[in-house]
Amino acid sequence: MKLKRILKWSTRAIFVALILAFLWGFIAYWRSTNECDRNTAAPINPMKAICFCEYGPPDVVKLDDVEKPVPNDDQILIKVRAASLNALDVYLIRDSWIGRLMFGLRKPRDTRLGRDVAGLVEAVGKNITQFKPGDEVFGFCRGSLAEYACASERTLVMKPANVTFEQAASIPLAGLTALQGLREGKIQPGQKVLINGATGGVGTFAVQIAKSLGAEVTAVCSTRNVDLVRSIGADHVIDYTKKDFTKSDQRYDVIFDNVANHSFAERRRVLNPKGICVLAGMGGAGIKTGEALGRIIGNLFIARGLASFTNQKFAQYMTKMSKEDLIMLGDLAQTGKITPVIERTCKLNDAPEAFRIFDQGHARGKMVITVEEDDKR
Ligand SMILES: NC(=O)c1ccc[n+]([C@@H]2O[C@H](COP(=O)([O-])OP(=O)(O)OC[C@H]3O[C@@H](n4cnc5c(N)ncnc54)[C@H](OP(=O)(O)O)[C@@H]3O)[C@@H](O)[C@H]2O)c1
Repeated sequence: MKLKRILKWSTRAIFVALILAFLWGFIAYWRSTNECDRNTAAPINPMKAICFCEYGPPDVVKLDDVEKPVPNDDQILIKVRAASLNALDVYLIRDSWIGRLMFGLRKPRDTRLGRDVAGLVEAVGKNITQFKPGDEVFGFCRGSLAEYACASERTLVMKPANVTFEQAASIPLAGLTALQGLREGKIQPGQKVLINGATGGVGTFAVQIAKSLGAEVTAVCSTRNVDLVRSIGADHVIDYTKKDFTKSDQRYDVIFDNVANHSFAERRRVLNPKGICVLAGMGGAGIKTGEALGRIIGNLFIARGLASFTNQKFAQYMTKMSKEDLIMLGDLAQTGKITPVIERTCKLNDAPEAFRIFDQGHARGKMVITVEEDDKR
């Protein structure tokens, strides 16, 4: 009798919770709005910026007039000279339920694009001690695909003098992802390291950093990129259109995987008994929404879970902002140990087209957007 009552009340409670969750979702969805809805008047102090008001294909990306930002006490106003695209920028605009849950249910909360930046300090807030107007800097900020952007002091470092703004803007996210990922792999001089997806933004840095750490590097790429990966130092190249690296007899100490297009068992087969597979990504800008979910589940749950029963390790990580690491990457670029690979450089006006090209997923290195004097009014 008592059990029956418990069951009855539990069913009712679940039913009410479901109705409340549905109502919350419905209200949250319709209340979800963004700057495009709110700022309908012409900006008072305008600047050009790359924006997107709705989720969708790369056609939603457009050049717009927005209010020039004003730095608060803890911010630095940067006159942007160059910014670069990352797979993240493409994931942000995609219409996917994961994206909607994270970035805004009905519309994207943040309509501005771009994170990597290089430029000149234009003005600083009163609490800023490390930078002054005129300094050449690079790092991260919100909405770097614009004439001006505000950044926090902890996300910027000084740009080495002999590194161009275009090169500096291509370093932050891709360079940190490669550096921190190779660290997860505990890479040692002389070790055999395989880099799957060696020719994208992250891969081209990973090949060069692994070489600078003394590893013997095997790069996996398509036919048209074989010469490129050789030119940046790869010792061996596997053309994935002709050969599957998981079917070879070669074993690796570290696999740095930007693509995640092989199963746990396949990758394990070519790892040394105590080898480490670092799961950096799930396929770059070209990955489709349906595939992405499968690869997240494959990496996060299946590969990592199964690996706990073996001596081989499957490591996943999130790239973290680190001033020390950014400075280290700047030094590597300054001393010529790494040279950012730039697929193409476009002007701010051409950024929507750059998104369309980048979205196809076959970038060779980085795609950089420059902001020059003639982009300005
Ligand atoms: N863990 C983190 O916190 C973090 C941070 C940033 C990025 N990531 C992830 O890192 C991954 C790489 O980013 P990215 O910026 O380098 O992407 P990307 O620039 O879009 O990479 C595209 C590259 O992937 C290669 N590729 C495509 N299919 C391939 C295949 N079957 N085998 C081998 N290579 C293939 C392409 O080469 P071809 O043209 O030769 O096919 C192209 O050069 C992404 O999944 C991204 O989400 C992770």
